[in-house]
Amino acid sequence: MTAGALPIAVRGLVRRYGRLAALDGVDLDVAQGEFLTLLGPSGSGKTTLLMILAGFTRPDAGSIRFGGVEMVRTPPHKRNLGVVFQSYALFPHMDVAANVAFPLALRGVADAERVRRVQAALELVQLADLGGRRVDQLSGGQRQRVALARAIVFEPGILLMDEPLSALDKKLREQMQIELRHLHRRLGTTVIYVTHDQREALTLSDRIAVIDRGRVQQIDTPQRLYEAPANHFVADFIGDSAFLDVTVADGVARWRDQTITPARPVADGAYLLVLRSEKLMVGGNAPGLNTIDTPGLNTIDADVIEIVYQGDSVRIDARLAGGDVVTLRELARAGHAARWPSPGDRVRLALDPADTLLVPAPTVPVP
Ligand SMILES: Nc1ncnc2c1ncn2[C@@H]1O[C@H](COP(=O)(O)OP(=O)(O)O)[C@@H](O)[C@H]1O
Ligand SMILES: [Mg+2]
Repeated sequence: MTAGALPIAVRGLVRRYGRLAALDGVDLDVAQGEFLTLLGPSGSGKTTLLMILAGFTRPDAGSIRFGGVEMVRTPPHKRNLGVVFQSYALFPHMDVAANVAFPLALRGVADAERVRRVQAALELVQLADLGGRRVDQLSGGQRQRVALARAIVFEPGILLMDEPLSALDKKLREQMQIELRHLHRRLGTTVIYVTHDQREALTLSDRIAVIDRGRVQQIDTPQRLYEAPANHFVADFIGDSAFLDVTVADGVARWRDQTITPARPVADGAYLLVLRSEKLMVGGNAPGLNTIDTPGLNTIDADVIEIVYQGDSVRIDARLAGGDVVTLRELARAGHAARWPSPGDRVRLALDPADTLLVPAPTVPVP
């Protein structure tokens, strides 16, 4: 394997633009062959981090090591990386094969070898028959595949991708996500992938680094991120949640005067209870969806404000004592409609203790 395929270690990375810290002390480890996604809102520093890894931007402080070797002063073409951007930056007047061959020409790869590698890369992205087609005669999805083939044709150890699918429509984007998964499995290349789309990140990644305001908030597997978010930002960015103020005193968690059993015991202090819309259920024999028995569950009474039919699911908004509004979502199945509650109904919401997540209350109030 090539040098760039070795583990990546980022330490204390800082990049300032004037008074703004686009990156504010980033630490990151990526294992060889891992698919790691940088997930965060627009402006959180994802592209800046990728550009520094690629060598197109210099950090103000910090270190990047590929396989233990410091890279900060190494120029981009010596880092053994393939890069795919949101804008494909292909040569529109050239044919597909010539575009894909470009990095090989730059590296002085001999003709016969070039032809062989271009064909292999085009086969990997399922464009084997289109080598002679001009790029400006391709669809968006096909162009994206050409950009991908060009990034992998010289067998880089690391593939960096910045929102590569964001220009595609939903169906094609989902199809390309599955293809990227397959490609990653076949090539075994280390991938660092940038997106602001939580579902895309969950679909693609071995691990996800959630970034906000230039800092990594949590790095974990998709399942751990969703089921054990480290803080309010992560719990809010991934998933559809409401948050309730909870106080833990003498080891007992309470919302208002009501006792709550959390998934994991926590130290005394101020917390937010994370109410995921798909984890909430309607309990008891009041009007409900799949009305369930509540012993052993956490329950909270609520008044239904709105019920919205959304085809695959039904969404209920309900108000709790004290005014907090929560959302509950349930798959719409045959026979359920007769049991949907109506606005104004009092229902008992239920939550399995295993799904009862607490995150530390932020020191600044939640907006
Ligand atoms: N060349 C630049 N000059 C000034 N500010 C920049 C520059 N590049 C990025 N920034 C700022 O740094 C922050 C992070 O940007 P970026 O890394 O592009 O975020 P993301 O890719 O997560 O949307 C943003 O506030 C952005 O405006
Ligand atoms: Mg960006």
